[in-house]
Amino acid sequence: MPLIVDKGLGNTIAAETTLSFIDGVKGVLEYVGYDIDSLARYSTFEETTWLLWHGHLPTAQELSAFTRQLQSEYCVDRRLLDVVRAIPRTAAPMDALRTLVSALAHFDTEADDPSLAANERKSIRLVAKTATLVALFDRYRKGKSFIEPDCSLSLAANFLWMLTGAKPTAPMARALDVCLVLHADHGLNASTFAARVTISTQSDMYSAATTAVGTLKGPLHGGANQEVMEMLVEIGDISKVDGYIASKLARKERIMGFGHRVYKAYDPRATYLKTFAKQVAADTGNLPLYEMTRRIEEIVLAQPNIVEKGIFPNVDFYSATTYYALGLDLDLFTCMFAASRMAGWTGHCIEQLAANKLIRPHADYRGPHGLTYQPLDQRGVPETSSTSPSCSAAMSVTA
Ligand code: ACO
Repeated sequence: MPLIVDKGLGNTIAAETTLSFIDGVKGVLEYVGYDIDSLARYSTFEETTWLLWHGHLPTAQELSAFTRQLQSEYCVDRRLLDVVRAIPRTAAPMDALRTLVSALAHFDTEADDPSLAANERKSIRLVAKTATLVALFDRYRKGKSFIEPDCSLSLAANFLWMLTGAKPTAPMARALDVCLVLHADHGLNASTFAARVTISTQSDMYSAATTAVGTLKGPLHGGANQEVMEMLVEIGDISKVDGYIASKLARKERIMGFGHRVYKAYDPRATYLKTFAKQVAADTGNLPLYEMTRRIEEIVLAQPNIVEKGIFPNVDFYSATTYYALGLDLDLFTCMFAASRMAGWTGHCIEQLAANKLIRPHADYRGPHGLTYQPLDQRGVPETSSTSPSCSAAMSVTA
């Protein structure tokens, strides 16, 4: 088959999936055939995770058994707390999460068991524990004591409990739950692709999840929600929105929370979230913030060249204010995205393994050919340092 160059792989189908369907032109997202709007309105993160993994909605009995399984996995091995404490308090939470998701493997005796049953159990552990890890690191970096999980709570409510030490109100827990539902899966996005590449080598679930966290971190993917909030904080007041956005557009800078590789219409996850974010903002005294986002959207969508390019608000635009209204620090936003997308990542890994083929595309080599190797002493005089290298005290293994 002739090879074609497809930089960014935007015109390549690299996997078959039954988890989620996207029509970027019409602005449709379905999880296993259910439109995202219905799931955001009526489902929960637990039920949505089951749906993605099993391909159908659970019965009441299945859902309650599955919820109990997740709840029983909120806790982490005590030794993992030492790993949390070994991370510098100044570390970015996504970097800490990457380390901690990887470290989970050391405390799971099934980490290298490739059987489907073990991979399903590890998926439950990964989904249940990711939010716990985020809360633990945030408490530790702020010098606060760890809070034991409350295994009677939903994943969203338990996260807020472990983060703040206060039981969240039902609307607060629901607000986070809606964000988790909306972020749980999204076709072959960059982090899911990364997870599938890793598992396609017959590596393990923890390695795939760690790869995915590292990929999600980037500002062109999961990091955008934090940047949206940083932009709002920088603008500061609705009276300054017009000038700020106009000068950004004049400098041809990107407006964070707008645009998507696949959607050239309104991101369907943003449709419900836009209304929902307003309610959350009103309930938490953050309406001025919400009004700023609405004004930004108005200005951006009034630019003919922006709309012609199919640039509309994406899920990050309105999830940012929702997370902020829940009291989450800005640098935890992407971690919540990871806690949710863990459902999709693990589901995709199991799907990949069911009909596995090593994912290994080609590169279009653009360098020279046929050069003659020159021995080191014939390559000119290098600049040399007279002092020999030595370990700094902090790095010394004997310190
Ligand atoms: N603001 C202004 N212009 C934009 C934006 C934006 N947010 N996004 C894209 N454009 C413009 C580009 O400048 C480019 O214009 P040009 O053709 O005149 O050069 C054109 O649209 C196409 O941009 P690409 O980068 O080629 O499009 P791509 O599909 O690769 O990018 C991406 C998608 C990376 C998401 C981009 O829209 C972006 O950077 N958005 C801001 C970051 C963001 O919100 N990311 C979150 C994505 S959603 C998610 O991961 C959950």
